[in-house]
Amino acid sequence: MSAAAAATAVTASSAPVPLFDPRRLLAPHEDALRDAFARVLRDAVFVLGPEVTAFEQALATSLGARRAVGVSSGSDALLSTFMALRLPAGAEILCTPFTFIASASSILRAGLRPVFVDLPTEGFLPSAEAFADAWGSRTAGILAVHLYGEPAPCEPLSALCRIKGGVLVEDCAQAMGARDAAGRSVGMCGRAGTLSFFPAKNLGALGDGGAVFGDDLELLAAVERLRQHGRAGRDVFTTLGGNFRLDALQAALLGVLLPALPDWIAARQRNAAAYLEALRPLHDAERLTLPAATPGHAWNQFTVRTPRRDALAQMLAAAGIGSAIYYTVPLHRSPALAEARPPAALPNAERAAAEVLSLPIYPGLRADELARVVEVVQTALAC
Ligand SMILES: Cc1ncc(COP(=O)(O)O)c(C=O)c1O
Repeated sequence: MSAAAAATAVTASSAPVPLFDPRRLLAPHEDALRDAFARVLRDAVFVLGPEVTAFEQALATSLGARRAVGVSSGSDALLSTFMALRLPAGAEILCTPFTFIASASSILRAGLRPVFVDLPTEGFLPSAEAFADAWGSRTAGILAVHLYGEPAPCEPLSALCRIKGGVLVEDCAQAMGARDAAGRSVGMCGRAGTLSFFPAKNLGALGDGGAVFGDDLELLAAVERLRQHGRAGRDVFTTLGGNFRLDALQAALLGVLLPALPDWIAARQRNAAAYLEALRPLHDAERLTLPAATPGHAWNQFTVRTPRRDALAQMLAAAGIGSAIYYTVPLHRSPALAEARPPAALPNAERAAAEVLSLPIYPGLRADELARVVEVVQTALAC
């Protein structure tokens, strides 16, 4: 029997294992979510307003931040932050090429220029040394992306920015609940952290949403104005902004789900530990590279690397198991970002794009399902 047939046989009689199924996370909160919906319907304040303010306060407290400003998405959180920083037009922001397009496109959309810094040979985040080497005369700062929920090395990055007089912004879209080496929430090391509440994120809304947070009250007040077209008074618009507002309904629903976050992160961490233990025997560069168990990791994704990635993805699919590739195209290859071509090749980002595969890890994943995933990965990579 071929390995693919073996994998199918192992699981043919079992139900599919989704990569992510929000219904399992939401089910225990259904009554409270309905109450929140009824409250918003009753009060009929649908955009910003008291629900958004209450959620912002709860969010800031949970992050250990002085303030959080709710916005319409993680993309708009990044865009409004870069707009609020008022850096000189064309200034360069160092950034990973291996992330979702919004990380880099928001830099360009704010009139700045992303400069891509390659990954190390192992791991998914450029090192502080690589950022230091890439710092040039037009560099105005760094966008650190806590990819897959793994905390980037923020202390060295913020030290670098301090020495060079640059800004550090943290894209925490995938890392809500992650902690840095000092035990703080990620996002608290630089000028601002940004979050996405897209449903598949660690704290997901029932639609789109995002936030900017931190201790820099002036910057956050600027983001607050920008989210309403630069509004500083009833009919007073002092800068160009956009419509980056968070809906009251999403804020109310997120307020119900926020207290569940610590349990959800703990479940993600348990699932990661179980994968790491079960798959350790397969860990070698020829077959399978497991993700680093960086302390404070919030495991939005459990992403392995293998030169046999496409075959493994096919076998998982044949066994009814969801998986995904984040990301098939590194950003320096993206046509939309053609303005941000790197001066040199970025071979490690290219190799990561060819080898990564994310396995189901969300808090609703059951132990028997995780065991099935392990079984198929073992079968697929056994020989
Ligand atoms: C790293 C990263 N940054 C930014 C975003 C943008 O967030 P949103 O989809 O809420 O706009 C995402 C969303 O996938 C992301 O993964």
